[in-house]
Amino acid sequence: MSNPDPAPSPVSQTTSSPLPWILLGLVLMLVSGAVGYLSFAPEVEPPPMEIRDDDFLMEGRSVFLTRCVPCHGTSGKGNGPLSASFGGEQIGDLTDGKWKHGDKPADVLRVIRVGVPGSRMAAWGPLLDEAQIRAVAGYCYALSRQPVPESLRKAEPL
Ligand code: HEC
Repeated sequence: MSNPDPAPSPVSQTTSSPLPWILLGLVLMLVSGAVGYLSFAPEVEPPPMEIRDDDFLMEGRSVFLTRCVPCHGTSGKGNGPLSASFGGEQIGDLTDGKWKHGDKPADVLRVIRVGVPGSRMAAWGPLLDEAQIRAVAGYCYALSRQPVPESLRKAEPL
């Protein structure tokens, strides 16, 4: 007499859909991404009133907050979260109005484009487009409360 209700084979018992594991993996990735972001994201204050309506400076601010804050700090004083690990290398205070590499628009653009060789200031030319470089240069002036040179806003070569 044959068994009318054979036990399911062990294979079909253990084979479950991989979908829950894939979903779990995705959720873990999202959570670790969010935790990583929150622990490294700078504490961002709302943009200062003076620049809120200025698209050029708001663009510069967004580049600065994404790329420059780890070293230069949100306010540009040179006290970003990475700066403590620099073993005394001076980052410089962008807000004191005394710029070691010059305060003409062409000087600031050059420092941002090609960096400062031998220091941790990298060349941003390969990573940012021309409009972003000009905007973040303009934002450096805004941080130091100097007038933002009109020549930076124009697309002409500097
Ligand atoms: C990894 C750290 C780091 C990052 C990120 C960084 N910088 Fe710098 N930056 C430095 C250091 C260090 C110096 C000082 C170099 C020197 O003169 O020896 C510097 C110098 C400068 C100067 C020249 C200041 C002066 O006194 O002349 C400007 C302008 C500047 N950075 C802008 C930026 C901008 C804009 C960004 C983002 C696009 C940026 N930096 C990102 C480390 C960094």
